Amino acid sequence: MFNKKFISLGVESTAHTFGVAIVDEAGLILSNKKNMFTTKDGEGGLIPSQLSEHHYAVALAVLNEAIDESKISMNEIDLISFSQGPGIGNALRVGAIFARQLSLIHKKELIGVNHCLAHMEIGRKLTNSIDPVLLYASGANTQIICYENDYYRVFGETLDTGIGNFLDSFGRNIGMGFPAGPKLSEIYYKGKEFIELPYTVKGQDLAFSGLLTSATRKYQEINKNGFNEQKSADLIYSTMHTAFAMLTEVTERALAHTNKKEVLLGGGVGCSKPLQEMLLKMCESRGAKLFVPPNQVMVDNAAMIAYTGILMKQNGYKTSINQSGILPKQRIDDIKINWMK
Ligand code: FE2
Repeated sequence: MFNKKFISLGVESTAHTFGVAIVDEAGLILSNKKNMFTTKDGEGGLIPSQLSEHHYAVALAVLNEAIDESKISMNEIDLISFSQGPGIGNALRVGAIFARQLSLIHKKELIGVNHCLAHMEIGRKLTNSIDPVLLYASGANTQIICYENDYYRVFGETLDTGIGNFLDSFGRNIGMGFPAGPKLSEIYYKGKEFIELPYTVKGQDLAFSGLLTSATRKYQEINKNGFNEQKSADLIYSTMHTAFAMLTEVTERALAHTNKKEVLLGGGVGCSKPLQEMLLKMCESRGAKLFVPPNQVMVDNAAMIAYTGILMKQNGYKTSINQSGILPKQRIDDIKINWMK
């Protein structure tokens, strides 16, 4: 039977994840496939040249998986959406070239999507939040974003590293592989005693490098005469608690400043239960509501790119092949939003 719904194929490749997804105009995710670059214990983080090798190697297989699962043929796809920025150049370039090729070979329209905007839009769609403060907490990005006067404005952001990169760096320093967040979250709940660590909120912005240096040094001290499991757990708990309290404080200030009543989570660190619990307490104390999208769209994924591509196309956006170069430094507040009025 002919499917009349408008269908978008999305390609995500801003950092560690190469993803392909197929989504229809109602926001129904028909498939959402990915392959993520990982490393073994303590072996180093995201090396750009290795990322592009990884993405090239898996691209076709991920596309085929997404097509197979969706039961949609390339003929039925109306739009090729791809993450144009921000991100790591080597990684972004693989997705952009792949999307351009699909667009040219299959004669489909192309649209470049901002990755941060895609977290906002898929989150709003799947949780039914209307006008939230987005806490976008991922590896490279840590931003507090909300809509005001035609733009999604950044109300606060990290001045150095993203919260996820901070957690991964801390994990790597203490011998964990990438990604370290889920392992750290498990140990978090074993912590009993809070250890004081640097807390850096400057106005609406945050910084994690002082916390990283101090937490790493303290971990080495604690374990210099052999591994001390309880004290190590206390330190991991305290490190995460400090970092998440910084995020929660800035999110709360954005709520107070804008009078908004909704908080939306996005980004891989949004999957962290300790962070969700802290935000929930803050929201409850202010009469605000916390919206937590499914984990599959909080981590980097192509479904959000495919969905946001449709939204942009419906609102008059287009990307020609000539305009489809990658934008590694693109910001969400560069893009005029004409669907929030
Ligand atoms: Fe992301």
